[in-house]
Amino acid sequence: MKQTTDFLKMKEVNEKIVMLTAYDYPSAKQAEQGGVDVILVGDSLGMVVLGYDSTVSVTLDDMIHHAKAVKRGAKDTFIVVDMPFLTYHLSVKDTLINAGRLIQETGAHAVKLEGADEVIEKIAAITKAGIPVCAHLGLTPQSVGVLGGYKVQGKDAQAAKKLIEDAKKCEEAGAFAIVLECVPKQLAKEVSKSVSIPIIGIGAGIEVDGQVLVYHDILGYGVERVPKFVKQYHSVNPFMIESIQAYASDVKNKQFPQEKHTFTMKEEELKVLYG
Ligand code: KIV
Ligand code: NA
Repeated sequence: MKQTTDFLKMKEVNEKIVMLTAYDYPSAKQAEQGGVDVILVGDSLGMVVLGYDSTVSVTLDDMIHHAKAVKRGAKDTFIVVDMPFLTYHLSVKDTLINAGRLIQETGAHAVKLEGADEVIEKIAAITKAGIPVCAHLGLTPQSVGVLGGYKVQGKDAQAAKKLIEDAKKCEEAGAFAIVLECVPKQLAKEVSKSVSIPIIGIGAGIEVDGQVLVYHDILGYGVERVPKFVKQYHSVNPFMIESIQAYASDVKNKQFPQEKHTFTMKEEELKVLYG
């Protein structure tokens, strides 16, 4: 299993880091079998698995429940768990309690927090407590209400400058990596050059130190539309729906079950049964 120090080395030697989300036992097993370096139990859980409109409805207990299943499916992969909406804002003390629960109760290895500013002291405190922290800058979906939608961030020079400074602050606070979401490729490259910790991009172009995508997006599983930055490797949805339709039709048309799906009793037992 790769560790935080390995991710630093990978950046040094320009070996890209592969991160993929997973939310349950089968997706985690597949991610590990597929050879990803890091599994992210993202709070995208809320949208792609639980059917919420955004990530702000996701609770700490939701994350713990799903991270436990992920851990059971991927015992040999580094697992990062998202701290959900408002679980790292009230105070440093509350933040530590919540980060501690996420790690202790699930067996995951690190937590991820969105934003900089007042979040920086939380990153420092969690790291000092011995829990590795992945930062998350650029488009931070938990703040979608303030950002006014899911938009590309850091497009003007001033915002870009702040983002570079924020990345440096995350590094100083002890973050082992930064997820950088939805920013122009030139800015992402600059951010990656400005810090020694790896930048894991999503919608941030290729000149960063790794990539992260959502499991359901790359597989076309249960999602209707995917953002521009997603590469969809398959669309499993039609196969799954066709399989369910075939099952339904077999039952209706008395084509299932067949003999091979059926158990039988011995003649002599039947005689006893019927007398
Ligand atoms: O919740 C999530 O899946 C994420 C990734 C998209 C980075 O935070
Ligand atoms: Na997230």
